[in-house]
Amino acid sequence: MEGNYIGPEKIIEKKREYMIPCVYHFYQEPMQLVKGEGKYLYDHKGKRYLDFFSGVSVVGAGHCHPYITEKICQQVKTLQHTTTIYLTQPIVDLAEKLAQVTPGSLKKSFFCSSGTEANEGAALLAKLYTGNSEFLSLRNGLHGRTHFTMSLTGLSFWRTDPNPVGGISFIPNAYCFRCPFGGTYPECDLACAKEVEAVIQTSTSGNVAAMIAEPIQGNGGIITPPPGYFKAVKEILDRYGILLIVDEIQTGFGRTGKMFAIENWEVDPQIMTVAKALANGTPVGAFIAESQVADSYTRPGASTLGGNPVTATASLATLEVIERENLVEQAARVGSYFKDKLLELQEKYLLIGEVRGMGLMLGAELVREGKEPAMEETDKILEHMKNAGFIIGKNGQSRNVLGFQPPLIITERDVDRLIEELDRSLSLV
Ligand SMILES: Cc1ncc(COP(=O)(O)O)c(C=O)c1O
Repeated sequence: MEGNYIGPEKIIEKKREYMIPCVYHFYQEPMQLVKGEGKYLYDHKGKRYLDFFSGVSVVGAGHCHPYITEKICQQVKTLQHTTTIYLTQPIVDLAEKLAQVTPGSLKKSFFCSSGTEANEGAALLAKLYTGNSEFLSLRNGLHGRTHFTMSLTGLSFWRTDPNPVGGISFIPNAYCFRCPFGGTYPECDLACAKEVEAVIQTSTSGNVAAMIAEPIQGNGGIITPPPGYFKAVKEILDRYGILLIVDEIQTGFGRTGKMFAIENWEVDPQIMTVAKALANGTPVGAFIAESQVADSYTRPGASTLGGNPVTATASLATLEVIERENLVEQAARVGSYFKDKLLELQEKYLLIGEVRGMGLMLGAELVREGKEPAMEETDKILEHMKNAGFIIGKNGQSRNVLGFQPPLIITERDVDRLIEELDRSLSLV
C-alpha cells in the first residue's frame, strides 16, 4: 500500500499521549486502517478485510461509494458552509426527502451533526409539545453521550456520568433470551410491554413527555423484541398521552430489511431520530416529527453545521443510492440467508446461546453453561476473524454478543466466506 503510515504502535503511543483515554479501540493487536472501498477495508500493509460492521452501522452503501463521493466532492468545491441563517437548497430537499421515506405522518425535520444531538433535540421537542418533562427509557438502550442522552442510556458500560439527570424511569426491555420476568414468548403475554403501564403508574408523577426506544437495540446486543411488543407499548403510551420517540440511529436506512426498523413492528412514532447511515460516513443527525408536534418548537433553534450543504448533499446522494441499488431489499434477502447460516452454526456450537436480529442487523450471543456471558471467547473470535480478514462487531451489556452489520451491498457469497471462517474460529475457542 502506498503512503507514509506511522503504523498501529505509533498511533497508540500518540493516542496515549494526546487523547482522552475514554476513546478505546478494539483488538489486542489492532491494525491501522487506511482505505475503504465498497465492502472492503485495507490496512497500512495492504491487507484487505471484508467489513461486517460498517463503522457501527454507518456505511450502508459501502465505503467511499463513487457516486456519493463524487457528489460530496462537487459540493465541497462549490459551497461548503453557510449555516441556517442563510437559505440554501440541499437542506430543504433533504427535509422533503426524509418526509417521503419515513413512515406514518412524520414530516418536519431539524438537522444536527450526530445521533446524540438528534436524541437531545427530540427530547426537547417532546417537552415543548407536551409541557411535561419526565421520560421513559428501556434497559439496555443506548441514546448518546451528552448529560441527558447518557442519562437516557440503559447500559452501565456507557453511563459514565456520576450525576445523571433525574425524571427518567427505566423499563425492563423485551430481552426474551434473558426474560426479566422469567417468561417465554408468547405464553408471557408480553409482560414486558405491560410493565410500561406499571412504571408510569408507580415511578412517575404521571406527567411524562415521551418514551424513547430503539426498535432493535444495537449496543445492547441486537436485542430484538417479539412481534406485538411495540404495538402493545404504543397503545399504553397513547392512553396516557405520552409520545413515542423511536431512535433509528443504528437501525435506519435499510439496515433491518425495511427502510426503518419500526416498520417491522407496524407502529407509527410521533418523533424519529436518525444519524449514522443517512450520510454514509459524513457527520449527520436529525429528528423528524409529525407536524403538530414539530410546530410546537418555534423559539429560535440552530445548529451551526447541522444540515450544511455538504452533509445534506451526501445524505441525498446516499438515499438515492439506497433506492437505486435496491439496498433495502438486498438487506432483507441477504440478511435472511445470513441468519439461517448463523442458526446452522448455533446447532453446532453450544457457545452460541442465541442468534437474533433482522435483515443485516444480526447478533450472536455467546454463552457458557447456564447462559454465563462468554466475554473472553467473544474477544478471541473477534481477534481471530480480524487476523483472517473479517471485521465483525461486539456489543451487549456484558460485551459477549458478536455483531454483524455489514454494508448492505454484501452478497450471499460474502456471507458464505464469513460463515466458513466463523465456523473455524468457533471450533478453536
Ligand atoms: C441507537 C443509538 N442512538 C444514539 C447513538 C449516538 O449517536 P452518535 O454517536 O452519532 O452521537 C448511537 C451510537 O452508537 C446509537 O447506536
